[in-house]
Amino acid sequence: MFKLDRKLVTIGTVLALSSTLTLTASAADESVYKSKPGAIDGGVTYPRENGNYTAYRYNEQSTKGVNFGRPATANEIKAWDIDALPDGTGLPEGEGSVELGDELYEAQCAVCHGEFGAGGSGYPQLAGGNMDKDENGVIITLKNQRVYGSTDAPKRTVGTYWPVATTLFTYIRDAMPYAHPKSLSNDETYAITAYILAQNEIEIDGEEMDDEYVLNKEKLAKVVLPNRNGFYPNIDGPDAQENIRAFFADRAKNIGAGTRCMADCKDPGGKDGKTPPGVVEIKYEMSDVRPPYAYAKDLPPEKKDEAAHPGKKAYEANCAVCHKTDAMGAPAVGDIQAWATTLKHGIENVYKNTINGKNGMPPKGGTSLSDARIKEIVDYMVSASK
Ligand code: HEC
Ligand code: HEC
Repeated sequence: MFKLDRKLVTIGTVLALSSTLTLTASAADESVYKSKPGAIDGGVTYPRENGNYTAYRYNEQSTKGVNFGRPATANEIKAWDIDALPDGTGLPEGEGSVELGDELYEAQCAVCHGEFGAGGSGYPQLAGGNMDKDENGVIITLKNQRVYGSTDAPKRTVGTYWPVATTLFTYIRDAMPYAHPKSLSNDETYAITAYILAQNEIEIDGEEMDDEYVLNKEKLAKVVLPNRNGFYPNIDGPDAQENIRAFFADRAKNIGAGTRCMADCKDPGGKDGKTPPGVVEIKYEMSDVRPPYAYAKDLPPEKKDEAAHPGKKAYEANCAVCHKTDAMGAPAVGDIQAWATTLKHGIENVYKNTINGKNGMPPKGGTSLSDARIKEIVDYMVSASK
């Protein structure tokens, strides 16, 4: 999706960022990486200790104190700080004609974005959108009400939707062509930008962009796109911050307090007893969820207080050493599956095996507790494992 020039709105953030931007020196020592035997997809693991490996790499430097890396160099900041403002600040030198842009577009962009930017192969349409007619002959624009439903839905293209043209330059330079971003020179990017603007019938300073038209930094900054003021709040220009403040100040109107549902909405809250007053929800819900959604926000039923079980203490003192996990081959307390299996041969047999011993299970777990006590402990183990 289209991204606004963030620098304008968040100029404070950007400044703060660039002054603290640091790069961590992470010269990775390949020799310490190791592909774990049997790791899926050759997953890299890092040594931890005692021959153990982990998927996470420790930053050994941090043992010397907090590591803030180093300040970014001026050149690094320059390479990073390449966005352009709507007024053209930040655009590089260079130029390119519509004609050259046409050639480049045909060769590198049309395969996805269609001839003349017309879209069609599932990728964004770059031109038109305000020239097409729907099946009823209505010209599609962003401002049309949708009379017929979805057929005359507006198409959001550079020409109809984007507010500023400098973003077109930076977007193409940084992100396109999709598979080889940053492969175009500045001149080539100006040329393709010119071509796309021309396809959208954009005029610059009242001048139509014909094949010979040569776009450069100054001219691009002059472009006024049709939807320039179509965004609300308007986050461009000197009034940006005030606009944003006003927008959020009037929350009820702009963010919504139950007023913005457009069609097929559920009853406003309160009436159906579920939604809090003032909230309108879209009506459609998934109906085939299994198990069905629970709307009740009840807590799960309270468990019997296990601490109170008479066998618990004795279990912890005498049996937990082997039964806490299944590491010793014992059914681990809490492992529902394991205890279901154990109980298959009947609780009486389980008592018997515990008292007389069985394989790795010493008689009475190595204790001299009474049979009744042992049974009590077994009962606890069983109750804690369902
Ligand atoms: C392999 C297919 C492919 C090629 C080739 C390609 N693009 Fe794109 N382009 C995309 C996709 C996918 C997106 C949407 C990206 C997104 O939204 O994250 C896109 C988005 C765009 C957009 C933003 C459209 C909008 O309204 O949001 C522009 C502008 C654009 N491409 C220009 C170009 C130009 C210029 C070229 C040639 C230099 C080019 N693309 C080549 C696939 C491609
Ligand atoms: C030294 C380790 C060890 C200790 C201590 C120990 N167990 Fe076990 N326990 C085992 C192992 C191993 C098994 C699995 C035996 C098998 O099925 O081969 C087992 C199995 C069991 C079973 C399942 C018996 C069956 O019928 O399959 C119960 C019940 C049990 N232990 C209870 C206890 C109780 C109660 C204590 C403490 C009083 C205790 N264990 C202490 C190792 C231990």
